[in-house]
Amino acid sequence: MQKKPDSVAALGRSTVSWISLGLAILATGAVLWTIGTVLSTSARADDKPASAAPPGFDYWQPEWMVRELWGPGRMPKGMMVRLLRHTTFVHMGVPKEYEGAQAPAERSPQMIARGAAKYAAECARCHGSNGMGSGDQANALTPSPALLAYMIRKPIAVDEYLLWAISDGGKQFESEMPAFRDTLTRDEIWDIVAYMRAGFPKLDDKK
Ligand code: HEC
Repeated sequence: MQKKPDSVAALGRSTVSWISLGLAILATGAVLWTIGTVLSTSARADDKPASAAPPGFDYWQPEWMVRELWGPGRMPKGMMVRLLRHTTFVHMGVPKEYEGAQAPAERSPQMIARGAAKYAAECARCHGSNGMGSGDQANALTPSPALLAYMIRKPIAVDEYLLWAISDGGKQFESEMPAFRDTLTRDEIWDIVAYMRAGFPKLDDKK
């Protein structure tokens, strides 16, 4: 019975070392968990969706364009379709039948008025009455209708490009832009182009 205190002491010692081992494991776990959290947070920061633009960001800053808009797997369908249409034109031009086509040099008030009526009848339901893409059907479409009020002022909006886009529509790019080749004559299309280039005037506001 002499031995009992010894074994109790031994038991006490081994309990103490088990506790310190346990504490060491917990501490290591906590350190690893902290490192893991920090790493995954910084990974997520790089993953922000395009909508998480910091206030006042500069659209033309290369880092923004590459990472948020054009990065691999990031381009939304709407952007892909527009890019495809624009790049096709830049590299391939337009189909033979539209090559070199020119709108009438003069833009008369009559043309603009005829164009306004045709635009209201054929285009406004998608592109909006002022060319800002807010037509009744616009929200149902992917890609959304082009902002014609803006694009008409850009260098790409030359005669043959507009004629091609309006005549052949977006079938080849998988967009809902209809082909107007069989519904509108070339003159009617030039009337609409004249109206758009005049800045989508509201003709009933005439003074
Ligand atoms: C059913 C909806 C719809 C109607 C109606 C419609 N569009 Fe579009 N349009 C679109 C969509 C969607 C796009 C964007 C995708 C694309 O480029 O094909 C587009 C693109 C365009 C583009 C190319 C823009 C660019 O950035 O290159 C032009 C030009 C255009 N439309 C003109 C017209 C005109 C003019 C009319 C009327 C005669 C018209 N659209 C009628 C849906 C429509």
